[in-house]
Amino acid sequence: MSMKLFTLLTLAVWLFTATSTLSQSNNDYVLDTNGDPLESDEEYFIRPAITDNGGRFTLINRNQSCPLYVGLENTDLPQGYPVRFTPFANDHDDDEVRLNRDLKVEFVEVSSTCVQSTEWKLGENDTSVGRRVIITGRDDGTRSAGNYFRIDETQNARIYNIRWCPTEVCPTCRFICGTGGILRENGKILFVLDGSALPVEFQKKDD
Ligand SMILES: *[C@@H]1O[C@H](CO)[C@@H](O)[C@H](O)[C@H]1NC(C)=O
Ligand SMILES: *[C@@H]1O[C@H](CO)[C@@H](O)[C@H](O)[C@H]1NC(C)=O
Repeated sequence: MSMKLFTLLTLAVWLFTATSTLSQSNNDYVLDTNGDPLESDEEYFIRPAITDNGGRFTLINRNQSCPLYVGLENTDLPQGYPVRFTPFANDHDDDEVRLNRDLKVEFVEVSSTCVQSTEWKLGENDTSVGRRVIITGRDDGTRSAGNYFRIDETQNARIYNIRWCPTEVCPTCRFICGTGGILRENGKILFVLDGSALPVEFQKKDD
């Protein structure tokens, strides 16, 4: 009887230690849909974590001209482009992508007629509802702040929000920060700031 209790206690202590170590070490990593930390040398599809918000992230031809906009596919089909994340600062000397840190997001494996870079870039406040669009291209301005986004936690595991708030790139700048959501325009889904936030998840691209 007491041996049973001892075993049970040991198991409980072990379980507690194991889970707290696990959550501690995963604390500031961004996790993909498999629960693995995102890595800067891997490719991921970004997609809405809840249905009826569109499909995977992709490039949108908004009005028959360049640059292309960041947006979402209209359907859940396996389309869209994967992205690669490049942290602004790598003070850990590893490949893991961390929460709430400035990073570049770049579509990869893109075939497009626009010559611009496929890095995400903060665009103009030019929608009918006054929300800032995300376009693609290189920001030639001060420290390229327009090219740096960050991934924030939500209350749900493995589900995140994408923000623009590059305070690591420029700690003294006073940014009007914004969180990404969707805007439907002429049958297309644009990824824009300043509205309700879109929860997203990251699906590692199969090699
Ligand atoms: C269409 O593209 C032009 C640039 O070619 C731009 O000035 C204009 O704002 C765009 N219109 C919309 C609705 O995005
Ligand atoms: C975008 O424009 C709207 C007006 O159309 C304005 O209310 C809003 O503050 C602007 N947003 C930013 C971030 O400048």
